[in-house]
Amino acid sequence: MSRRAAVLVARGVFPEVLERLVQHFDVEANADDSVWPAAELSARLLGKAGVFTTGSERIDAELLDAHPQLRAVCNMAVGYNNIDLDACTARGVLVSNTPDVLTETTADFGFALMMAAARRITEGEHFLRAGQWTKWSFDMLAGAEVHGTRLGVLGMGRIGQAIARRGALGFGMPVIYHNRSRLDPAIEQQLGARWVGKAELLREADHLVIVVPYSPQSHHLIGAAELAQMKPGATLTNIARGGVVDDAALAQALRDRRIAAAGLDVFEGEPSVHPDLLTLPNVVLTPHIASASIATRLAMANLAADNLIAALGCGPQAGRPPTALNPQVLAAQP
Ligand code: GLV
Repeated sequence: MSRRAAVLVARGVFPEVLERLVQHFDVEANADDSVWPAAELSARLLGKAGVFTTGSERIDAELLDAHPQLRAVCNMAVGYNNIDLDACTARGVLVSNTPDVLTETTADFGFALMMAAARRITEGEHFLRAGQWTKWSFDMLAGAEVHGTRLGVLGMGRIGQAIARRGALGFGMPVIYHNRSRLDPAIEQQLGARWVGKAELLREADHLVIVVPYSPQSHHLIGAAELAQMKPGATLTNIARGGVVDDAALAQALRDRRIAAAGLDVFEGEPSVHPDLLTLPNVVLTPHIASASIATRLAMANLAADNLIAALGCGPQAGRPPTALNPQVLAAQP
């Protein structure tokens, strides 16, 4: 009988998902859900054929070179900017992510964050809790209109399209979007969405929602110059990745009321948050939880586990991990 492969589960995860992995592998888990420093992650990877990661673990060429036995990195996130995909592919390491299962949940949250920023929901709650609500006033916490205004989407992948659908069908919003590639005209028509250049998107959107993956090319895609092009009454919502927006420039624009408000679920250097953002009333801040419904997080964890099980040649999908990013490496593995 062949020896069971050893795998590392780098963060805490649902017990039932861990149990599924235990059925196939010798599993080292992270019982107290610590964020291991790079050296500890590397030490724990010794002898492991696969690793279940989250966005918190960095998998780079140096780590891969220290662990030539590693065959699969299965990320419980749709974004995978924490993983050097090219370095993995070059070394024959399978990488997977968790697309689709989180699309609608993440779009719900992006829309909620945009609405909270526009309608000053957390600001209103802080005002109430602080005992400042002593009378009705004609303009008390009056915010920006949402329904019928122009929704701008930067990055029109699966989640961007789900946000556009919410805006167009639920809130009567004309949708403009900017993306490297244009959608099929039939999908544009379905979403009521029109492709525009980045400058027009910035200039015309009443509510801009950012959903582009992070890469060196999208680093600070929105900085001071871009914010200066936006409407003074506009809102900006970032549910993509910290680093796509220059947080210092955004804080300055919010302080100067260059734009009305922002909703941020992701931050440069998170879990640290730019201190200026913490002092501003016109930004809604959440701790990277856009995909965090219980059902969706469970689906993401199960999908990451499905990938790990299949990538290491076990289970009903052995050799065919369902959402592999570089499936070509499997053909080359012994
Ligand atoms: C969350 O940010 C994800 O990429 O799934």
